[in-house]
Amino acid sequence: MPNLTVKIGDISLKNPLICGSGEHFIELSGIDKALKAGAGAVVIKSTNESDAAKEQLGKTDYALLDSDFNELKWDFNPPRDASLFNRSGLHPLPFDEWLKFAVDADNMAKKFNSYAVASLIPASVEELIENAIRVEKAGIRILEVNVGAPHGKEAAKGAILLEQEADHTSEITENLRKEIKIPLWIKLAGQSPEVPAMAEAAYKAGADTVTLMGRYMGFIPNLETGDPILGTHAAIGGAWALPLTAHHLVKTREKIGKDYPLMATNGARDGHDMIRFMMSGASAVQMTSAIFSGGYNVIEKSLNQIEDYLEEKNMSAVDLIGLAADRVKTYAEQENNMDYWREFTPKN
Ligand SMILES: Cc1cc2nc3c(=O)[nH]c(=O)nc-3n(C[C@H](O)[C@H](O)[C@H](O)COP(=O)(O)O)c2cc1C
Repeated sequence: MPNLTVKIGDISLKNPLICGSGEHFIELSGIDKALKAGAGAVVIKSTNESDAAKEQLGKTDYALLDSDFNELKWDFNPPRDASLFNRSGLHPLPFDEWLKFAVDADNMAKKFNSYAVASLIPASVEELIENAIRVEKAGIRILEVNVGAPHGKEAAKGAILLEQEADHTSEITENLRKEIKIPLWIKLAGQSPEVPAMAEAAYKAGADTVTLMGRYMGFIPNLETGDPILGTHAAIGGAWALPLTAHHLVKTREKIGKDYPLMATNGARDGHDMIRFMMSGASAVQMTSAIFSGGYNVIEKSLNQIEDYLEEKNMSAVDLIGLAADRVKTYAEQENNMDYWREFTPKN
């Protein structure tokens, strides 16, 4: 059996598959299913102090789209190239009750040699620090803070903070690090050219890893009706996002160095995508939409794919980290072939 163990700071994960935060982790039953399927860790559904963010959950909607932007059936068997377009809100419980749920989840995870990671999406920085302190005091072992949720701009005012600048990312991480000692994962926005700079800022301010990168906001007209699909702008993701995330992983690895563990989110649909992310520099990979729209068996299938791959190549999971990232060449370093472009231009 190949060795799937990976390390994120002081935390050793039994495998690199982390279930990213989403509605399927609002209740313990979903977390239990993910743990039973073998997840290395599960990030529970995020919360904050804002009532507006909780109310937003009542207004969520989800559309699975094919490559022609037609809505697909929600049958938990999506094609690999389906995109998920959705609005989302935060955990419906008041903070105290959410905290109790998070403690129960992490205790449950211990029995599986796994982790349930608490997740905060701040509305304000002051409350974020207070909440993070309460998470640590409650005994939860890991905290992820998402400072880049894509819904930040469309959600009700004051519901979700969306950070897109390195300076502020540094300030938030530094303030958190001063107050809490447990492993701190900082999840970053995607729709910013500043992703590697924000990652570096979070690293320097003491984050144990950076999770990159959040989804983009999109807008899709329905050709028949002229209405916007789902009626609004919404977050969009799909396997097509993998190269975009991987690009930022490689650039971040170049900036920070090979020893700092990075975490990927946004684009992994199966075990092979996880391998692609790891080869781009991720030590572990969060998978959300693939499980949300395809069911918990996606976890087992993905882990089997990774195991088969590693067995065939006689490798361990850690051998994958940065394999392709460290072979990247600049345009200038490519072979010179003056007339090669002609082969790619239309002849009629
Ligand atoms: C329905 C849904 C709900 C989500 N809720 C949260 C959340 O509460 N907190 C969070 O940090 N990310 C949330 N996300 C973002 C995902 O964890 C993940 O970063 C994103 O979907 C990209 O990864 P994927 O391609 O594996 O889906 C949500 C995503 C989806 C699709």
